[in-house]
Amino acid sequence: MLILGIESSCDETGLALYSEEEGLIAHMVNSQVELFTEYGGVIPEIAARDHSVKIINILKNLLKKADKKLDDVNLIAYTAGPGLIGSLMVGETVAKTISNILDIELLPINHLEGHILAPGLEDDNLETPYLCLLVSGGHTQIIECSEYGSYQILGETIDDACGEAFDKVGKLLNLEYPGGPKVSKLAEDGDPTRFNFPRALMKDKNLNFSFSGLKTAVLYALDDLEEKDYPDVAASFQEAVVDVLIKKLAYAIEQTGIKKLVCSGGVAANRLLRERLTDMGKTTELEVSYPKMEFCTDNAAMIAHAGFIRKKYNLKEYPTKYARPRWPLGELYD
Ligand code: KG4
Ligand code: ZN
Repeated sequence: MLILGIESSCDETGLALYSEEEGLIAHMVNSQVELFTEYGGVIPEIAARDHSVKIINILKNLLKKADKKLDDVNLIAYTAGPGLIGSLMVGETVAKTISNILDIELLPINHLEGHILAPGLEDDNLETPYLCLLVSGGHTQIIECSEYGSYQILGETIDDACGEAFDKVGKLLNLEYPGGPKVSKLAEDGDPTRFNFPRALMKDKNLNFSFSGLKTAVLYALDDLEEKDYPDVAASFQEAVVDVLIKKLAYAIEQTGIKKLVCSGGVAANRLLRERLTDMGKTTELEVSYPKMEFCTDNAAMIAHAGFIRKKYNLKEYPTKYARPRWPLGELYD
């Protein structure tokens, strides 16, 4: 079985080839991040247009690199949601067109399932159950993967995603988009104890997150500050975010008894988060792993791989026929 994976849910155009025998053969990603520097965030219409301009060339290059033809493909796994509708529809249209003309089976994939299963790209023996902390510009979730195809969201953000909060605070500190890595860098020279920024939803061992109040607290704090104070602001902000992530994870581990964690998404690159997870591993025997960064951020290898897993374990096909901007893991079969 040779699977073509297609990912276009947000601002990365990804194509991949995954084979049953050899695993991942090749994958390519075009990130649009530079297009959005001047806007400070993703503009959906520009993202969709860029996918449509680039996707066919990326596909051609991928086939060339892997020395394969479209005729060799016998399954197309594409991201059907959740994501930006215009972006999703570009990938979906390409998938449906190839599938119809060449009579190749089509498999819609939930983007979040792609992230959850991504560690399997590097670890053939990835055993369930495990917890997944998915932290990126679009997601902040703690998910329990009890077995392949069965996922429970234990907690998620009720407003901004945690990467989004980093980006918004980056903007407040006059840093270029995406602000996450720059805020983190600035924080290295700051005092994380100077400002006691709020940690939301910490009562009752609630596993949901809220980051919008934190961003507003930073905004108000800046009123009385000068640029020389920015490293302390960045460090205190980062401390608050990581503190919340770690405490909620500890609750999730306590509630489920699961001692295995996969940390994924762009924010998984954050140094403080990694340090705290390592510390947590030492005190609680938590086994923490991170997919390679190229599989942590949005890519089509994880989508092709999710298609492979769904076929391998004969999982029931999702009934979805159209791209779905909103498609929570709890509604996979609705
Ligand atoms: O998974 P990802 O590449 O893409 C999308 O969410 O689309 O995640 C990008 C997010 C951005 O919000 C970025 O600022 C954040 O991950 N990020 C970081 C770091 N590196 C990337 N946030 C905090 N610290 C970092 N080192
Ligand atoms: Zn994603």
